[in-house]
Amino acid sequence: MQPVGYVRGPYRDAGEIPKGLGAKHETEGALEIREEFEPGLTDIEGFSHLYVIWAFDRAEGVHLMASPPSDDRPHGVFATRSPHRPNPIGLTVVELLGREGRVLRVRGIDMLDGTPILDIKPYLSSVPPEKLRRGWLAEAESRAGKQP
Ligand SMILES: C[S@@+](CC[C@H](N)C(=O)[O-])C[C@H]1O[C@@H](n2cnc3c(N)ncnc32)[C@H](O)[C@@H]1O
Repeated sequence: MQPVGYVRGPYRDAGEIPKGLGAKHETEGALEIREEFEPGLTDIEGFSHLYVIWAFDRAEGVHLMASPPSDDRPHGVFATRSPHRPNPIGLTVVELLGREGRVLRVRGIDMLDGTPILDIKPYLSSVPPEKLRRGWLAEAESRAGKQP
């Protein structure tokens, strides 16, 4: 795989990115797509939200048991969004605010500036909210008295 582009945003350090229960990801930034892939953006403007698939290029090590900031109990890495995964791939849903050529302006980034983007796909959720279960996160939220 090769990056199709890079995230541009305000975060230079992981400590600056909101974490834990109730963290909101409303930060605006850009997805800068490499020139050779620009034709692949044709017709993307019609979608309100996108999946961004990216690489945790600055994560070190793999922890099969993760301790997320949203809970005081450990969970298996595949039950979390931890960066320390066997294949360090990140997935973020962003709102598409606009496109200028090969630059997509988006809201909702939780990646560091310069993060390599592996792929972009339109976000189309077909799961009705009443069918969604939030696992240990729902329990952690209820212990903390927080709404999802
Ligand atoms: C909990 S992960 C969730 C990322 C994505 N939404 C997901 O579910 O795959 C977000 C954290 O990853 C870390 N992070 C962001 N960009 C990174 C990068 N390029 N390399 C390593 N860690 C990164 C930051 O600590 C950030 O708070």
